[in-house]
Amino acid sequence: MQDADLLAEAEAARGFAHAPYSRFQVGAALLCADGSVQRGCNVENASYPAGICAERTAISAAVARGQRRFLAIAIAGPPGVALAPCGICRQVMSEFSPDGALRVIARDAAGAPRATTIGALLPGAFGAADLDAAR
Ligand code: THU
Repeated sequence: MQDADLLAEAEAARGFAHAPYSRFQVGAALLCADGSVQRGCNVENASYPAGICAERTAISAAVARGQRRFLAIAIAGPPGVALAPCGICRQVMSEFSPDGALRVIARDAAGAPRATTIGALLPGAFGAADLDAAR
């Protein structure tokens, strides 16, 4: 699947965002190793900390369907915003991509697709190996 196609999936998912508090709607589309795509959107809550980002809803939905190997995640926010995943989402992406290879695709402020990796976004990530080292 091309990056543009995955971004289109994220943009479609953005339409389902529940973001009445921030009014910052985000969609995500996660390409799984079996070729399936799982969508997510941010889901906010009147108790603000209970809200969850689009990236983590997509990852959680995929895991609940038996997927744990992911190739790429596209994220889509408001037009004109160069969207970058938050720190918590970077940590969750890293959980399923300990080698850092997961591709993260978003549009820049001018709307052009840009791709990086979770390894570049979260160098030196804490992971399962760190827990194992203490045992
Ligand atoms: N948000 C996401 O869903 N993904 C991002 O990459 C950045 C931020 C959400 C969280 C919250 O619902 C709203 O955007 C404003 O922070």
